[in-house]
Amino acid sequence: MPLRLKAMELGDFNTMTDHANIYPPGDDLVGPPTPICWPVTTQSAAQSRLDFHMTKQKERFLGDTSARYLKIIDEDTGDIVSMARWHWYPQGYSYTEGIHWETQNAVEGRPWPKEMNVELHNWILMERDARREQWQEKGKPCWILMHLVTRASQRGKGAASMLIDWGVDRAREDGVPAYLEAGAMAIPLYAKHGFQQIGDLVRSDLRRHGLDMDFVTAKMGLFPELLPEVQGEE
Ligand SMILES: CC(C)(COP(=O)(O)OP(=O)(O)OC[C@H]1O[C@@H](n2cnc3c(N)ncnc32)[C@H](O)[C@@H]1OP(=O)(O)O)[C@@H](O)C(=O)NCCC(=O)NCCS
Repeated sequence: MPLRLKAMELGDFNTMTDHANIYPPGDDLVGPPTPICWPVTTQSAAQSRLDFHMTKQKERFLGDTSARYLKIIDEDTGDIVSMARWHWYPQGYSYTEGIHWETQNAVEGRPWPKEMNVELHNWILMERDARREQWQEKGKPCWILMHLVTRASQRGKGAASMLIDWGVDRAREDGVPAYLEAGAMAIPLYAKHGFQQIGDLVRSDLRRHGLDMDFVTAKMGLFPELLPEVQGEE
């Protein structure tokens, strides 16, 4: 099961949409927060969700110059097991230009899927952006990891670690911070790669938005000047 990191290509979004026809419902590359806003249990629901999600990702791949889409391939099967979307913001994250990729539907005139809790989806993302203004250094170059997911059946094999390290290497080379918001379960994973938690955990009560749970995330940053030097570096 050798894993290899590659840049995503346009055709990969169709390949990832096709996962609904091959794997059990939900064993796909639809990343947070969509799964909690649109859980699926049947193949046809998984198909609709993938079609919606990957159409949006494809639009962003084509139109958002800050986005760097990466994939991990299992070289034995040729399959995509994990994906990430890192962003390079040479002038810092833009609060006016970033959010619409996520909170507006990709295809103009196409309604949001009725199965999806759109209000919850957009609320989570807008809250995330509102907080970013307070904890990320404004107007300064940075890398941000916005999206990371490994197919459920392929987790624990190091795929996400390779995608995280890609961004860590960029941040080191550029001498700028890398930021992300970590789901509670993933905090130790990012910490292992050098990210530090910034401030308190963010605990959002989703009951007002139709879901009986708290959504817990950590604001995390990686600061190259605080990392030990990589062996072999000048
Ligand atoms: C978090 C996630 C991307 C990790 O992917 P992965 O390819 O399994 O990651 P790796 O194999 O490199 O590392 C696995 C580590 O993550 C930990 N982990 C964190 N969340 C996990 C989860 N939901 N399931 C399994 N392992 C998880 C494991 O304990 C493991 O730690 P270890 O190496 O010390 O044993 C994957 O679990 C996932 O897609 N989860 C759902 C989406 C998500 O939460 N995305 C990140 C949002 S911040």
